Amino acid sequence: MVVLGIESTAHTASVGIVSDRAEVLGIASDMYRPPAGGIHPREAANHHVELLPGLVRQAMDAAHVDPSGIDAVAFAQGPGLGPCLRAGATVARMLSLVWEKPLVPVNHCVAHVEIARVLSGLEDPLLLYASGGNTQVIAYGRGRYRVLGETLDIGIGNFLDKLWIGLGGKFPGGPALEAEAKQGTELHELPYSVHGMDVAFSGMLTAALQLHRTGVARPDVAYSVETTAYAMLTEITERALAHRQRDHVVLGGGVACNERLRGMVRTMVEARGGTMFAPPRAMCVDNGAMIAWTGRMAFRAGVTAAVEDSAVLPRQRTDLVPTPWRTD
Ligand code: ATP
Ligand code: FE2
Repeated sequence: MVVLGIESTAHTASVGIVSDRAEVLGIASDMYRPPAGGIHPREAANHHVELLPGLVRQAMDAAHVDPSGIDAVAFAQGPGLGPCLRAGATVARMLSLVWEKPLVPVNHCVAHVEIARVLSGLEDPLLLYASGGNTQVIAYGRGRYRVLGETLDIGIGNFLDKLWIGLGGKFPGGPALEAEAKQGTELHELPYSVHGMDVAFSGMLTAALQLHRTGVARPDVAYSVETTAYAMLTEITERALAHRQRDHVVLGGGVACNERLRGMVRTMVEARGGTMFAPPRAMCVDNGAMIAWTGRMAFRAGVTAAVEDSAVLPRQRTDLVPTPWRTD
């Protein structure tokens, strides 16, 4: 079965085509990069509207398929920025109607989790989903992905992006901060905000910008922020492992690209006798293949939506989405 998936929830427009066992037959992506500041939803949506038709063509050429070889069209229904979501949903509905193929709505967060899980080969791992808008520790249970802990304010990626812009850089901040942090040597104390299995970042954002204003060099700010923020994520992941009596952890989401985060979680998990897996970077950041793969599993489990019932859901939560392709 071959499924085409469209991702357009925020900064990235992407089309992926996958078949069995998440084999990526073709993928084409383009990220909207604002000239300055953060993402303006309307401008990002315009970017997606302009680029998506060409990305569909590119992905299909790469996969060597024509419409007759596609079994279903999946799209990210939410969560995300309304105008961006609507751009991808509109293209997906149109392809579904013109090609006469079923339309399959997919939750973006569940897709990050599912592509990471299939690539890990682990059946039922604990998941740390660390991305732009979300930071969640997740385990599957009774028909849903359950959020055991999460950010109480902003997602870790948004925190890193805001910090980097505040330090004079450009979006996206995560990769640039990672490079900067490698030059840092001195650890400065920052608010360490763990509440049970939840975390918060806004206090650290204010404090880190203040550190820089008082003369601490950017590499040391970046180093201190990475150390503190990733230790927080490692702590809540360990707490979840202990409570859920699990051994294995899979990372997903754009911030899972980060070497330091991977290393800290790996050290913790291996000390407990478990294993840690993080997907290749292209499968951590937003991509159409994760939507196609999750859409493929959903479609096989009977999930489809009529065009008139396919409205986007900008605030759709991970733990409200049924996952009929998983069994207990
Ligand atoms: P969400 O999945 O919550 O909707 P998103 O879709 O905006 O968020 P992703 O593409 O999953 O985000 O991740 C993008 C985020 O990952 C950005 O905030 C970016 O700065 C961050 N990021 C990317 N690479 C790295 C890295 N090497 N280190 C830290 N953060 C990174
Ligand atoms: Fe994402």
